[in-house]
Amino acid sequence: MNPDAFAPAVVAWYQKHGRKDLPWQHDVNPYRVWVSEIMLQQTQVTTVLDYFARFIQALPDVQALAAAPLDEVLHLWTGLGYYTRARNLHKTAQYICTNYHGEFPRSAEILATLPGIGLSTAGAIASLSMGLRAPILDGNVKRVLARYSALKSYPGSSQASKQLWQLAERLTPQQDVAQYTQAMMDLGATLCTRKQPACSRCPVQKGCLAYQTEQQHLLPIARPRKVMPEKRISMPLLIEPSGSVLLYQRPATGLWGGLWSLPELDNIAQLDSLLQQHQLTLEQQQLLTGLRHTFSHFHLEIEPWLVHVKRSTASVIAENNWLWYNPYNPLRLGLAAPIKELIERTLIQSHAGDPQ
Ligand code: ADE
Repeated sequence: MNPDAFAPAVVAWYQKHGRKDLPWQHDVNPYRVWVSEIMLQQTQVTTVLDYFARFIQALPDVQALAAAPLDEVLHLWTGLGYYTRARNLHKTAQYICTNYHGEFPRSAEILATLPGIGLSTAGAIASLSMGLRAPILDGNVKRVLARYSALKSYPGSSQASKQLWQLAERLTPQQDVAQYTQAMMDLGATLCTRKQPACSRCPVQKGCLAYQTEQQHLLPIARPRKVMPEKRISMPLLIEPSGSVLLYQRPATGLWGGLWSLPELDNIAQLDSLLQQHQLTLEQQQLLTGLRHTFSHFHLEIEPWLVHVKRSTASVIAENNWLWYNPYNPLRLGLAAPIKELIERTLIQSHAGDPQ
């Protein structure tokens, strides 16, 4: 599809199917569009409707907003959340009144330097309210363009963002730019939705690389999982001659809170002091196959050791967060799942070759 055909197709679709009755689409001026765009940054259209009406009624222009006490602005914002938006609105209104005689600068680049106005919001204000040719790239439009170009990377990455801005710039028309901007927002909000995009009704289906390669459900690529830190520990399975294993109960709060687990050592070199603590003597020790368990925010790399011990006659467990656990006649304990698996796996293995 010729890039020049993109905008006319989108605008023609908008004229038939787009939203034209939203309150900020009437009596269009930079102030009303700015206020609506800021409200719509983190809030649904249906919620914004009432707030927008009340805000505009109380503070109908940039001079009124600049002159209002911050408390009144925050009061009008109550319930919308993300109150920095309201503080920035107030600050920017005062800035425009002081430095621009109350007139919004007619340039997306300059608008984007004002508090709370990012590049895409600046593009929306400039195009929707001033008819200036300025691209936008909000979340919805990112999704549309990521699919249209079958973008291979996560759209939030800086490299992808650069590519998407270039594409947005290239596709933005010289004419009908206000309708084009609203059309792109509507396309993203109503057809090119995150789940189940309605490609059959899309005006740019023909040129869409995701559609052509049947990847519309797979794109845009999800945010890559962050690389999580890894923690390494040694866990000795201390086995006494009757086959019981020494367990300890984790503190009530935190990871595996209140569950029973194996002793945890930063390093197997600390085994000696653990043996001393429980008055045990070492018979033999053997490194077992490692085990990896992933928590929500880190990987736990467990180095298990099978350690045969003998209890001295004086060996008693005084603290109630330690016990000898007999896996063949198990107490009903809450065991951390990987630990239960490790104990079962190890004891079956270690007894597999025992004489009957
Ligand atoms: N979301 C952000 N800007 C919008 C607009 N102008 N109309 C509808 N939804 C929007």
